[in-house]
Amino acid sequence: MKNLQHLFDNNMEWAKDIHEKNPDFFSDLSKQQNPEYLWIGCSDSRVPANQIVNLPPGEVFVHRNIANVVVHSDLNCLSVIQYAVEVLKVKHIIVCGHYGCGGVKASMEDDDHGLIDNWLCHIKDVERFNVNELESLSDCEKLDRMCELNVVEQVSNVRNTSVVRNALRNGVELSVHGWIYNINNGILKDLDVC
Ligand code: CO
Repeated sequence: MKNLQHLFDNNMEWAKDIHEKNPDFFSDLSKQQNPEYLWIGCSDSRVPANQIVNLPPGEVFVHRNIANVVVHSDLNCLSVIQYAVEVLKVKHIIVCGHYGCGGVKASMEDDDHGLIDNWLCHIKDVERFNVNELESLSDCEKLDRMCELNVVEQVSNVRNTSVVRNALRNGVELSVHGWIYNINNGILKDLDVC
């Protein structure tokens, strides 16, 4: 059985590098985390939260799933949002999608993808909500726009969770942002739905 030694080697090098730059980094961080941001993004390996915004460990609380979907009955995602807002007191929730998202693309196909199709139904809903706008677009434009519209919809879902509604009702300083990432050039775009 392979033991993935190269990953342990990478880890050793990484930890050593950080320790050399700041000997207190890990000991300080072990005492507490104080992130200002909750990142809700896609599981896609090309969209790593911390690296894209160039922030070190401790700065971003992260939840990722296929196609960055926020479902009102998903206890996993809701628990992350609750912990981030009520305990960590993050000031910003960022829903970040990306162009060329395989989950969004699969949701627009009629093929059978197995179990995941149940998850992708949530994105099919986004297509249905925006059918008039999408109708006039070419297939390629349609996928890009669907990736954007999916973010807009998930921002709205975050905004409508009981956790966020209660926080805003209680005057908590909290913003919900919708961003999209371009895997072709590494650039983020704000969809201005804050
Ligand atoms: Co994706």
